[in-house]
Amino acid sequence: MRLASHIGLLASLVITLLLVSYIAWIVYKTDTTLPLERVVVRDSIIFLPLPRKLTNMSVEEAILYRRSIREYTSDPVELEHLALILWSAYGVTDPIWGLRASPSAGATYPLEVYVVIGEGGVMIRGEGYMAPGVYKYDVHKHLLLLVKPGDVRSELAEAALGQKWVRDAPISLVVCAVFERTTQRYGERGRVRYVPMEAGHLGQNVYLMSTALGYGTVVIGAFFDDRVQSVIGARLDEIPLYIIPIGVPREPRRIDFTDIWSYIEVKRSG
Ligand SMILES: Cc1cc2nc3c(=O)[nH]c(=O)nc-3n(C[C@H](O)[C@H](O)[C@H](O)COP(=O)(O)O)c2cc1C
Repeated sequence: MRLASHIGLLASLVITLLLVSYIAWIVYKTDTTLPLERVVVRDSIIFLPLPRKLTNMSVEEAILYRRSIREYTSDPVELEHLALILWSAYGVTDPIWGLRASPSAGATYPLEVYVVIGEGGVMIRGEGYMAPGVYKYDVHKHLLLLVKPGDVRSELAEAALGQKWVRDAPISLVVCAVFERTTQRYGERGRVRYVPMEAGHLGQNVYLMSTALGYGTVVIGAFFDDRVQSVIGARLDEIPLYIIPIGVPREPRRIDFTDIWSYIEVKRSG
């Protein structure tokens, strides 16, 4: 009798356990996003969607289609896309040593990336917009930290000699360099060669990833350093090197590899 009740208790325990596991499995299957994948906005921190394969464009196609684009529609940039562009620019691609998407002399990583977001400039999963402001990209935590609230695109465009595309683009990256990180190891060579080269690597990654995601961009080097610094609230040792507006191109780019073949053929026969 006693044994029978023990067996009964054990059986009901096993059934309950199976039921709970089954419900947990159903919940897990229904909610396909891991906790880290959700966009979490906490105070002035935006935990970005995690990097993953999002495009179907090959590298050779991205190189062919890349062009400096200065005219954009009023469409916003998707937060998931902005996250992938930031990761391609300077994100971590080696979890052991913390190496990045762009190469760096002696892995000194002198660059810092700010994001200027305009009103309605970044859409969060079709549900709403990010607050306009200047944010700083934390590469290791893959998050954006609010540095300065408000839409500062007009001020940024003024600091960039009135270049209209800076005011029009929904967002701009501002790439700054802390030269000391590289010069303390490499001296003058670090200042005049390595750091500017690294900004170029980062810029090209932004161009190619933006192209693959259907955006257009242009790297901008003409601006007043001190004015850009003050508009984005950068530290005094963070020297701006590039402003990179990003938006949906107004004109689709029409080019094919066969156009390049014809060009080469004409040149060869000339
Ligand atoms: C270092 C550098 C600085 C640049 N500065 C500006 C700039 O201030 N404003 C601008 O509209 N384009 C700027 N550009 C973009 C060039 O005008 C553009 O790359 C060039 O016309 C070639 O066109 P493509 O990029 O479509 O191949 C810059 C490009 C580089 C590499």
